[in-house]
Amino acid sequence: MSGAKDRPERGEGDFPEEAFAEVRALLLERAAFDLGHYKDGCIRRRVARRARACRCAAAAYPARLRDDPGEAEALLAALTIHVSQFFRNPSTFDHLRRRVLPELIERARRTRRGELRLWCAGCAGGEEPYSLALLSRELAPAELPLSLLATDLSPAILERARAGLYEPARLTQVPLELRERYFRVEGQGFRLNHEIRRMVRFRRQDLLAPEEYPRADLILCRNVLIYFSRAEQERIIDRFARVLSPGGFLVIGRAENLFGPVRNQFRGEFPRERIYRRLEDHSASVPQGVERCV
Ligand SMILES: C[S@@+](CC[C@H](N)C(=O)[O-])C[C@H]1O[C@@H](n2cnc3c(N)ncnc32)[C@H](O)[C@@H]1O
Repeated sequence: MSGAKDRPERGEGDFPEEAFAEVRALLLERAAFDLGHYKDGCIRRRVARRARACRCAAAAYPARLRDDPGEAEALLAALTIHVSQFFRNPSTFDHLRRRVLPELIERARRTRRGELRLWCAGCAGGEEPYSLALLSRELAPAELPLSLLATDLSPAILERARAGLYEPARLTQVPLELRERYFRVEGQGFRLNHEIRRMVRFRRQDLLAPEEYPRADLILCRNVLIYFSRAEQERIIDRFARVLSPGGFLVIGRAENLFGPVRNQFRGEFPRERIYRRLEDHSASVPQGVERCV
């Protein structure tokens, strides 16, 4: 939810309070989705935009939502933007390839668990977890057990992710040799090969729901926190800290930051890339000159 599409258009912010409260209650009831956790202005603009797309006045939109069985799903789709790309922010993936993944692979080989657990939270159409799968395929020894979990709120986008078929614009950052090795042209797009697709398990998960988070050595949650209120962001980061292995990594979006006391459980490993290391012992003090996080 960023960029020109989110800039308010004339009249967009005028979604009346009463109608908004009704929309919120209906969405909670129909889809167990609580608008109250999201940033207010941004979410109102999207609801207003959806009402306009239905040719409804704002005040009439709750009735439309109540009476049309497909409208809750359509509104959810309009609220959650699924923009992504393979190797989005290439320098971040470069750090993952050169520094983070080799360390985690080495650590997994040395530990008794002997498994590497990667989690993409808010994975959209799969571009991000598949980018990780491509890197892991190149870097990790074939015998190392690898668990690559990708979760998102939207069942529809997860279906698209499983299919692994992409328009060329999503692949502009894929190095040519990887494109030639792992994709084949299909119609107007590119299909990712089966071997890489089956490395990723896709599952629906709402980050705001109380359902337990999976344990992981590396969590990518990029361009997702930005939708949430600050209090929700803090809660989610706290939950990430609890399931990350000590010394594991959290990667957030380039426009995002860690908030609240939970920041103290992380050190900014590559702060420009928003790559943070979960401190081994979060009561331990950070050596002088080392940033806890930014
Ligand atoms: C802009 S995409 C980010 C995709 C990818 N991480 C990236 O940076 O390219 C944001 C994703 O967050 C998902 N999302 C929004 N709210 C969510 C929630 N409460 N729980 C899980 N995923 C959510 C959306 O469905 C969407 O696919």
